[in-house]
Amino acid sequence: KKSQAWSALFSEPMSDLVKRYTSSVFFDQRLWQADIAGSLAHADMLAAQGIIQAQDLAAIEQGMAQITNEIASGVFEWKLDLEDVHLNIEARLTQLVGDAGKRLHTGRSRNDQVATDVRLWLRGEMDLITGLLTDLQKSLLEVAEKHVEVILPGFTHLQVAQPISFGHHMLAYVEMFSRDAERMREVRQRVNRLPLGAAALAGTSYPLDRERVAKTLAMVNDAGEPQVCQNSLDAVSDRDFAIEFTAAAALCMVHISRLSEELIIWMSQNFGFIKIADRFTTGSSIMPQKKNPDVPELARGKTGRVVGHLMGLITLMKGQPLAYNKDNQEDKEPLFDTVDTLKDTLRIFSEMIGGQINTDTGQKEGGITVNAEAMERAALKGYATATDLADYLVKKGLPFRDAHETVAHAVKAAISHQVDLSELPLAVLQEFNPNIEKDVFDVLSLRGSLNARDILGGTAPRQVRLQIAQHGQRLA
Ligand code: ARG
Repeated sequence: KKSQAWSALFSEPMSDLVKRYTSSVFFDQRLWQADIAGSLAHADMLAAQGIIQAQDLAAIEQGMAQITNEIASGVFEWKLDLEDVHLNIEARLTQLVGDAGKRLHTGRSRNDQVATDVRLWLRGEMDLITGLLTDLQKSLLEVAEKHVEVILPGFTHLQVAQPISFGHHMLAYVEMFSRDAERMREVRQRVNRLPLGAAALAGTSYPLDRERVAKTLAMVNDAGEPQVCQNSLDAVSDRDFAIEFTAAAALCMVHISRLSEELIIWMSQNFGFIKIADRFTTGSSIMPQKKNPDVPELARGKTGRVVGHLMGLITLMKGQPLAYNKDNQEDKEPLFDTVDTLKDTLRIFSEMIGGQINTDTGQKEGGITVNAEAMERAALKGYATATDLADYLVKKGLPFRDAHETVAHAVKAAISHQVDLSELPLAVLQEFNPNIEKDVFDVLSLRGSLNARDILGGTAPRQVRLQIAQHGQRLA
């Protein structure tokens, strides 16, 4: 009869609808490893403090070992009646080891338990994500390295602006993903703090050693000092860490989405700048010629979903009074889905961009293929070296604003003759400014323009190679 932890007080059982509505076990069961780790750390401390006996601890450890096997092998029976992962595991423990199992919850509440579990679980996932961000940066770096000398038009307003190195363009994304990794590491410090010991909301009368538990669970700072939530009310009700993580994840997805948009444009027939391996594209059921960029399109779409989760979580917390409220159970699905979506997306992008190791040959294959010729052809349209001509005139003594105006006239002439600036005869150029000499053609070429931007952060191949070397060292 007694199927719930609190049923003695209740005069009627919960209706089936309410059970289904309130239970979380079918999604929070993924916290099981964190839940067991937290319980073992708590039990170890209870024994060290003399709150439970050594033999209780031994029984708990033995029971948890069995439960671990049961869950890992898929034979554990999750029960909706037991509401969530915590009560399911605790009930099974008691079934296995009797009274010792009932002593585990001494000085603890599910409120500090669940907050601990989510933090532990998220910490592990964030470490995986940081690793995936490294992989993606390495993929981008490899592509950059191979294509430092490849020139494509850089755009502003999606209009041809100035020639840039394709390697440089890839490095822009390396910067974004390196910031994402940095953000993950910063947020991790605030994820990695221990709520246990806060109990339901006010702390507990048992002489718990919270710092010991924190150390056992590796909830420590870089100096190895235990990180313990300092206020019991805040400890059980704070979900900032989940929101911060989701914000970092959403921003990372936004970077992925921008990259996706560029890949999609670049592989369209009108651009033809790149190809992605067939395994990342799909066909059409009606148009036999089609290869569609479904992966980047889906990533762009999934970005909306993760941004939505951020909105969901932040709205979840708005207006909640202290301390724990059941609202908080709603933190899990958005958080879990954010983690799943981000991990899958990072993985697939690493492979789509950098390729995968073929286990037979040991070679990387797949990855994006760059059509250098198409890129260069596109850079020759749109007068991408107009700024270089203006800079040339400035070096001849013209104020920049005047040079700008002069070049506008030259571009107008080139447009009307349907030629590039570099194709205007010297005599014609000299009509715009008599100081123009033969050496102007060096700056009007794409390569001349590229090489000229030899400044820290600029697109000159020399700078791009320096940046690649620095990123390579950072990621090693
Ligand atoms: N399943 C609950 C959650 O995820 C655990 C905490 C329940 N606490 C409570 N007082 N009902 O938030």
